Amino acid sequence: MKRFSFLTLLLSGIVAALSNCRHTHVDNNQPSDSDSLYTNTHYTLTIPARFPLLTNPYKDSMSVEGVELGRILFYDKHLSLDGQKSCATCHNVLFALSDSGNAKSTNEFQQTVRNAPALENLAWASQLFWDGRSGSLALQAQDAYQHELGLVVQNGINYLKTDSTYTRLFRKSFGRPGDITAPKIYNAIQQFVMSAISGNSKLDKYLRGEEQLTPSELMGYQIFLNETGDCFHCHASSGGSTLLFTDNLFRNNGLDSAVNVSDFKDAGRGAITGSSSDYGKFKDPSLRNIALTGPYMHDGRYTTLQQVINFYSDSTKLSPTIDNTMLLPNHANGGLHLSTVQKQALVDFLYTLTDTSFIHNPGLQNPF
Ligand code: HEC
Ligand code: HEC
Repeated sequence: MKRFSFLTLLLSGIVAALSNCRHTHVDNNQPSDSDSLYTNTHYTLTIPARFPLLTNPYKDSMSVEGVELGRILFYDKHLSLDGQKSCATCHNVLFALSDSGNAKSTNEFQQTVRNAPALENLAWASQLFWDGRSGSLALQAQDAYQHELGLVVQNGINYLKTDSTYTRLFRKSFGRPGDITAPKIYNAIQQFVMSAISGNSKLDKYLRGEEQLTPSELMGYQIFLNETGDCFHCHASSGGSTLLFTDNLFRNNGLDSAVNVSDFKDAGRGAITGSSSDYGKFKDPSLRNIALTGPYMHDGRYTTLQQVINFYSDSTKLSPTIDNTMLLPNHANGGLHLSTVQKQALVDFLYTLTDTSFIHNPGLQNPF
């Protein structure tokens, strides 16, 4: 037995060596076999200066081919119930991948319950959706295909199999046996969404010493960062860098008054954790590209940034789960009570977070 396996090993070694020689010899003249389609070139995310450390475990398995496949899938209307919608229907790149000015979006069945958020810098987010119900971008994609696009997954796979661009890209991204599966679809979408990084706004250029802010923009930035506005408590990451403009936590910023937690029209985070202390809490949204992503709040109740600032200034409301920040003395009696000049400064500052290179990034555009 022992001798046999030794012999087999030896023989297979010789065969392997020979076939290696053969390959190196004839490779140039042969059309590539199915294995050589597996390229999987590592995709390196370009992290803007001063951004927090990226610890997302999926970043190491991203590939150029996977990101490209994800982009095509993101825009492909065949992957919906009526063949008329894609992810991009509600996540339009010119609006920083949010829904073109709509408070609610129309999915394959009805109006969405919540406002479609911008998709940016989500590689740093470990809980997706306003209520954080999804623990990864792949699970999130599965949720979106099911609930927004009404996709019957097997129909989607059957369609993808008929298209040579797809069969090639799936094999290039994921290798042999090259079959198209639902997890691979979600994984490619995840890679694409992770590649959507925004960090080149006017504020970024200011921080890099390349551009100046106007006096009003600068005043707004200071208000944002100090107790006058207190915005940084929630719209800045905790690890030192403020530049994600979210700490990715869930809070109640005082939008609605409630006596009991059951009074909240949308339970938000509470419906996911079941904890009464989470009712009425929603993800602190990033404020990057905020001038492009209105209407605002989880239900799109405010049309303009002026209305949002007026809310923080003059009409925050008490409820059992309101965030402690909103109870500080400077927020007493319904808000910060900002002057007209301070309000305008905050709005002007928020406009400096618009990143035109993000919305024109060729890697995010419609490939069709
Ligand atoms: C009909 C409109 C619509 C379509 C189509 C749609 N989405 Fe969304 N998307 C939304 C809405 C609304 C939300 C917020 C839902 C919530 O938080 O409960 C959302 C949330 C998200 C989030 C979470 C963002 C965050 O900050 O947590 C991601 C990521 C996302 N969508 C990606 C996708 C992808 C990928 C597709 C395609 C597979 C897709 N969406 C299709 C409307 C849509
Ligand atoms: C206590 C935490 C907290 C503080 C302080 C805070 N925010 Fe918010 N902000 C939130 C949360 C949470 C939401 C989403 C609420 C919702 O939709 O239910 C939000 C939403 C927003 C939105 C809308 C975002 C979108 O995509 O719809 C803007 C704009 C905004 N905040 C700006 C500010 C500014 C400017 C300040 C300072 C004056 C500030 N916030 C202070 C937590 C906070």
